[in-house]
Amino acid sequence: MANYRKEGDIAVITLKNPPVNALSHAVRSSIDHCLTRAQNDNDVSAVVLCGDGGVFCAGADIKEFSKNQHRLVPTIRDNVRQLEASDKPVVAAIAGIALGGGLEIALGCHYRIGNVNARIGFPEVLIGILPAAAGTQRLPRVAGVANSLDLILSGRHASARQALKMGILDKVVPGDVVEAAIDYAKSVAYKPVSLRRVSEMPVKGVEKADILFQEARKNTMKKSRGAIAPMNCLRAIEAAVNSPNYEEGLKKESELGNLLGTGNQAPAMSYAFFAERTAQKWELPGGKATYKSTKPLPVKTAAVIGCGTMGTGITISLITSNIPVVLLEADKKLLERGLKFIQQVFARNVKQRRMKADAAKKLISLVTPTLDYQQIKDVDLVIEAVFENMKLKKEIFAKLDAVCKPSAILCSNTSSLNIDEMASATKRPDKVVGTHFFAPAHLMKLLENIRGKDTSPETIATVMTLGKTIKKVPVLVGNCTGFLGNRMHWIRVTEASFLIEEGCLPEEVDRVLEDFGFPLGPLKVSDLSGLDVGWRIRQSQGITGEKVPAGTPLRYRQGQRYCPIPDMLCEQGHFGQKTGKGYYKYERPGAFQAMNDPDIKDMIVAYCRDHNIERRKIPYQEILERSLYCMINEGFKILEDGIATRMEDIDTIWLYGYAWPRHTGGPMYYATKMVGLPKVYERVCHYASAHPDIMHWQPSDLLKKMALQEAATSHL
Ligand code: COA
Repeated sequence: MANYRKEGDIAVITLKNPPVNALSHAVRSSIDHCLTRAQNDNDVSAVVLCGDGGVFCAGADIKEFSKNQHRLVPTIRDNVRQLEASDKPVVAAIAGIALGGGLEIALGCHYRIGNVNARIGFPEVLIGILPAAAGTQRLPRVAGVANSLDLILSGRHASARQALKMGILDKVVPGDVVEAAIDYAKSVAYKPVSLRRVSEMPVKGVEKADILFQEARKNTMKKSRGAIAPMNCLRAIEAAVNSPNYEEGLKKESELGNLLGTGNQAPAMSYAFFAERTAQKWELPGGKATYKSTKPLPVKTAAVIGCGTMGTGITISLITSNIPVVLLEADKKLLERGLKFIQQVFARNVKQRRMKADAAKKLISLVTPTLDYQQIKDVDLVIEAVFENMKLKKEIFAKLDAVCKPSAILCSNTSSLNIDEMASATKRPDKVVGTHFFAPAHLMKLLENIRGKDTSPETIATVMTLGKTIKKVPVLVGNCTGFLGNRMHWIRVTEASFLIEEGCLPEEVDRVLEDFGFPLGPLKVSDLSGLDVGWRIRQSQGITGEKVPAGTPLRYRQGQRYCPIPDMLCEQGHFGQKTGKGYYKYERPGAFQAMNDPDIKDMIVAYCRDHNIERRKIPYQEILERSLYCMINEGFKILEDGIATRMEDIDTIWLYGYAWPRHTGGPMYYATKMVGLPKVYERVCHYASAHPDIMHWQPSDLLKKMALQEAATSHL
């Protein structure tokens, strides 16, 4: 758990808990023993603390939280105290990462040396807690208030160079950091440590603290949307500045930390952390193949077909991870426009100092633009990203099949169309797979990979690994209309249109969901992604054409309740943000800020009047339940159908593709752990009987089964 060895008169304590040296109880106890041993050994003049396997430490062992084992003594705070109290200088040798409790341990040491590639940070806010082993009190003493607010509230990782500049690291070295730390320890071995004890240092940057706190408070309230950890982190940093001494600040940190530790958001966010990792451990239904049993093919080169918004975003994602891309487009002008967009994105990165100009130039040079299919014949993998038209896609897949080498994998970026139908246009259906990126593809983390009926495990392994390589969060799902994400999204948007028809205005529906924690309500999202997309799909399915005479109370299509308001908007050119009008109006086409539109209100009210639909005031709770439970019910149907194999797959897709508020874990976690399945099922049944004409309210069998099971066990 922690090894002890001596290099001359330097004791070297090495944390050993693969893969990331998380601070489990055993590791904490080991640190305690090793330090005591070093203290008691008269031949030891100084100590180096480092991590095994090229990693310093990823902090508390998150798995211990649910069992409360993180509270067993020695706690991380005890380790920090003991390290700092040592009369023999302790030097932290940081390779890889020092995160959360790992950084707190390092801040307990008297000196900190980092490898040039090391990253440090306090990601606690991302799992709903705060750095509770004195991190909020110590960081402001070495890095100042501004840097502490930046790191602790964002949870971001800082590079070694940034950490050096902030004063967190004392030195950054290019080579072996342990060797460097041993040398450093020798040079400080007999120096007094009193001036190096962080708890005894004054907080830095207090002069501007008030303004910084004011700004941070404003930003946090705007961004956190119901998550309580960010504000508690902020209050804890304030306590470092405003408390009469370190110990008092520490008490406040404990108080705020305990509030988070006993609430329901921290478990939801820890769940989200592991859900994302579980989702990547894919398996086929029935365990026919798994990530463990299947080797991916190497992807050294790729091609992207189509140079629109999606194609260029996907190209940027690939080249940013050093995968050369042949970018193929049928239209020369579109190709030029796409290339220009790619250059602009990198130019912006350079301007914002996220990357050096020569590095950007090198990455852009990885794109080979072409109008000629022959240029893609040798690539390992192709991603088709043309617009949603099956006929066109099938033509392209047939062409790809004829041109590409036999081992090449053929992917489609479709967001809803049938993968098997595309595969049927080729002689290699085993190598055809869906890779659904989310717009903007170079920024959004989710990659929804869709297995067709013939997609081979090797093909699946390849696109799942590719997802990780290009720093996305890949999730494997089955093939159905809309796949997993859009199948649920469409239901919530349909339900939103029924709510509008029955009495809500768009802004009322959105406000409830935004209060719940979504950055944008479903109707603003529809405006953002374009109302015409769904309209064209409905047109192609022949749903929109049916005329219903005025005076008809409710409208039906193909035997189901149907709200024509979204079609009416499109018929009037309201395609959303891109046309400057949708459910909302915008200052100009493409503007982001949605404004309530009185004309839309008039249109909705007139429509209801014409069709004898009596509008009513819909209670807040009903809007919330109908918006969330309809899609949760669908989530259970998705599990039933085998489109997803685990709850974690659904939650990860919603967290990363649709900005589901992380502090509620995801739709399935929220239903299961925060609301309770018996209650969700009861409400689904209630809405099913209130709206027998809305098919999506028919309760899922799986939801019913699990709810009844839970109700039975809770009565035991
Ligand atoms: N506690 C327990 N397990 C942890 C962990 C932690 N703090 N950090 C990582 N792990 C586990 C992961 O669950 C994963 O386990 P698995 O292989 O069984 O799925 C494994 O370590 C590797 O992590 P992964 O995230 O897949 O590797 P990575 O190289 O992409 O990222 C980190 C490594 C450390 C950057 C990332 O895991 C991370 O951010 N960890 C959380 C750190 C944190 O929040 N610390 C604060 C706690 S106070």
